[in-house]
Amino acid sequence: MQFKEIKTNVYYCGLNDRNRKIFDELIPLENGTSYNSYLIKGSSKTALIDTMYPPKTDEYLKNFDENNITKIDYIIANHGEQDHSGSIPALLKKYPEAIVVTNPVCAGNIKEMLHVPDDKIKIIENKEELSLGDKTLRFIFAPGVHWPDTMFTYLIEDNLLFTCDFLGAHFTFEDIYAPHNDELYKSAKRYYAEIMMPFRLMCKNYTKMIKEEIKPEMVLPSHGPVHKEPSYILDAYEDWSSDTCKNLVLLPYVSMYGSTEEMIDYLVKGLEAKGIKTLKYDIVEGDLGDLAMGLVDAATVILGSSMVLAGPHPMAANIAYLAGVLRPKTKFASFVGSYGWGGNLFGKLGDMLANLKLDVIEPVLVKGKPKATDFEKLDDMIDAVYAKHKSVNLV
Ligand code: FEO
Repeated sequence: MQFKEIKTNVYYCGLNDRNRKIFDELIPLENGTSYNSYLIKGSSKTALIDTMYPPKTDEYLKNFDENNITKIDYIIANHGEQDHSGSIPALLKKYPEAIVVTNPVCAGNIKEMLHVPDDKIKIIENKEELSLGDKTLRFIFAPGVHWPDTMFTYLIEDNLLFTCDFLGAHFTFEDIYAPHNDELYKSAKRYYAEIMMPFRLMCKNYTKMIKEEIKPEMVLPSHGPVHKEPSYILDAYEDWSSDTCKNLVLLPYVSMYGSTEEMIDYLVKGLEAKGIKTLKYDIVEGDLGDLAMGLVDAATVILGSSMVLAGPHPMAANIAYLAGVLRPKTKFASFVGSYGWGGNLFGKLGDMLANLKLDVIEPVLVKGKPKATDFEKLDDMIDAVYAKHKSVNLV
């Protein structure tokens, strides 16, 4: 495969992985993914920014032969996770003169995880520059988006910013430049939700820094297409990472005999009638990426669960746990559920969401099918959600 030239002597040398169906064994991939890698040929030195996911190493290295790359001086490791660093040992074997250039935290990771020896690593400081002759790289440490070892690399003369996982998307392409369409927007949002949202405040800060201080001509992430118009992805990140929620209630539910779903449907109808948007999510059938995207925006989450063995349904517990670790900016929550013979349905779910410090609205628990008095309680819940949204100027 011919490397694609992005600017004079700056090439894309990554690969698409169209057949990958799931990432981190957690979130389904609608569009596969790409592992991006970039080659920069300076007048005196050649650098490679990020490498390849290990199962793709052979295909990746073959392309270096096809493109007559006989020498690499520096392998820039922006991050130690193996979808980007996994091919470093094979590259060092192929290009024995190459040195890995990275920050101290990433150096520790690749030494321990990939057994790269000390004498093959050059550790740099934040904002340090590395000359390739007529091109200069500046390293900008960006811990937290999404590992402590993450950094960006800035190619000064060409005004290109290589942002590693930050601003990426699980997306495959022929043309490496980002289309501005719904498919890419959704992929980037799903990616933000599952990978970056737990670090929302850092995302907010780095977005501001890139937008106002670096002002790159292009943003080149390590998954998904290159952004020739960085404002497209930066504006999206500004929205997703802002402190403002949308006037949206997310209602994930699992219902064994239909009673919990009946309550969820009643809530959906009542909330919509009050001008509040809803997103009903079937935990058994749903795609976790859709749930995660709902969490990016929702001001309120109402979790519905049947009782199983005196506690929440395990699939509802899984969703509560996931919401807890993804750390959305959601402000309000409640629970509905149905039981047969007893137990504590909401205690464990509440515990799993405790770190979010949600303002909890009175839950509704019914025995079997909901009765008229239960629907009255659901009306109270609808009124309470409306009042909460009004209190933060969403309605
Ligand atoms: Fe795409 Fe954190 O690796």
